[in-house]
Amino acid sequence: SQLDPFVMILFGGAGDLARRKLIPALYGLYRNGLIHERFSVIGLGRSPRETEDYRQIIMESVEKHFRLPVEHRGELEAFSRHFEYISLDVHDREGYHRLKERVEDRERGLGIPENRLFYLAIAPGLFGEVSFHLRDCGLARTHGWKRLVIEKPFGHDYPSAKELNDRIRETFQEDEIYRIDHYLGKEMVQNIQVIRFANTLFENMWNNRYIDHVQITASEVVGVEDRAGYYDGAGALRDMVQNHILQMVMLVAMEPPSRLKPEAIHDEKIKVLRSLRRWKEEEVNRNMVRGQYTGGFQNGKPVLGYREEDGVREGSHNETFVAGRLYIDNFRWSGVPFYIRTGKRMNQKTTEVVIQFKGVPGQLYFNKDNNLDPNLLVIKINPEEGLSLQINAKKPGAENEVVPIAMDFCHDCEESSPEAYESLLRDAVEGDRTYFTHWDEVSLAWKFVDPIRKAWDQQTDSTLCFYEAGTTGPKEADALLARDGYRWHSSG
Ligand code: BG6
Repeated sequence: SQLDPFVMILFGGAGDLARRKLIPALYGLYRNGLIHERFSVIGLGRSPRETEDYRQIIMESVEKHFRLPVEHRGELEAFSRHFEYISLDVHDREGYHRLKERVEDRERGLGIPENRLFYLAIAPGLFGEVSFHLRDCGLARTHGWKRLVIEKPFGHDYPSAKELNDRIRETFQEDEIYRIDHYLGKEMVQNIQVIRFANTLFENMWNNRYIDHVQITASEVVGVEDRAGYYDGAGALRDMVQNHILQMVMLVAMEPPSRLKPEAIHDEKIKVLRSLRRWKEEEVNRNMVRGQYTGGFQNGKPVLGYREEDGVREGSHNETFVAGRLYIDNFRWSGVPFYIRTGKRMNQKTTEVVIQFKGVPGQLYFNKDNNLDPNLLVIKINPEEGLSLQINAKKPGAENEVVPIAMDFCHDCEESSPEAYESLLRDAVEGDRTYFTHWDEVSLAWKFVDPIRKAWDQQTDSTLCFYEAGTTGPKEADALLARDGYRWHSSG
């Protein structure tokens, strides 16, 4: 069904995120007839620009970044006519009044009932101020609905996140705030719940009686790119663990929700974070590993070490890799370690969750090493999307020897999946907060991360482990599992 008519007020309207992700995502919805003919996007930016030029940017960004080739030029042009541009200095109070007039003008012209979607694709330092101005100028008072979509990072620790949240809450209610974690828009991340709760085979075994441990890997090939200004102060712990990795932990570990409603799902996810054991500062080094890449080779090409990258502080101790051992202290998960790992400049791009099941008694059948491979369920999130179940079976021709075989399912082989932003934008316009982050998730995630950060910030270089670019990360991350008798399954 088609979504409500609305006006989207897009801060950072000609910025990188808008061009690469948001505009193509809107186009995807438009092309599939999901958004109403009566929608209007007002792009905002600092630079002066004519609406006609802005529409060119819109068309270019779709042509360049939409996941499929554009077949109908006319359709693309029609799409671009929904966009207008206004230059706005976000600190300038007067500018917001002009913006309000323009929004009201569009609403009248198109007969849109004051449904306003504010999207802040701008530096997080500005979120508080912009939301103040939206209230101050009256734009946030509507007869229809209003929603605020914001990108990460949401603060840099618990106190700053709380301060930001309090500020935003002066203008928007919790159920009007859509905090983006783009991992929640990924098809296979959403599929975790389905796989668990729609299959007897898994749900009955999804606990500490049958699951030995869980591994979550999000490795990247890219380095710091041109984001050193942000990344060198943030590090992998804040950039990936506080949000994406913990989101995956929550989805793997949560109890079945009472209904498929955002509140019910958020409730269960939040409980996972309440049970997540918080490492005390003195426990950090035994359970968490931080690393930084040095120069090396990727696909045969030499690449710089992190400290040599543009914009990185000299001798920076910032981590580009994190591995850790987490515990969820509740009935279901008591005693089951969750190993997590994420890093830049590793040997391959992989996001996946591996569930390792406990073994059967080693009495009857063995593999060639006189052992038995574990049953593994691999949930592949990116770049491949799918499932793989490793089980043991008879080796053809051999008498009693068993071999592990994989049953594979490919999720995107028949039809390419929509981009995360496409489904998230649709949900935001529809008013479905299921795949957005609740404030309690943000705050509890910071409370887990803050003591680790603090411990690392106080230590000297000695606990920062170096790894060569193009590898699977520091050897200390392998040792973390080896100590418990395991190894990483995915090649990271
Ligand atoms: C972002 C991080 O949130 O996620 C980036 O800020 C990272 O540093 C990116 O590269 C990874 O996303 P994906 O979808 O490519 O796994």
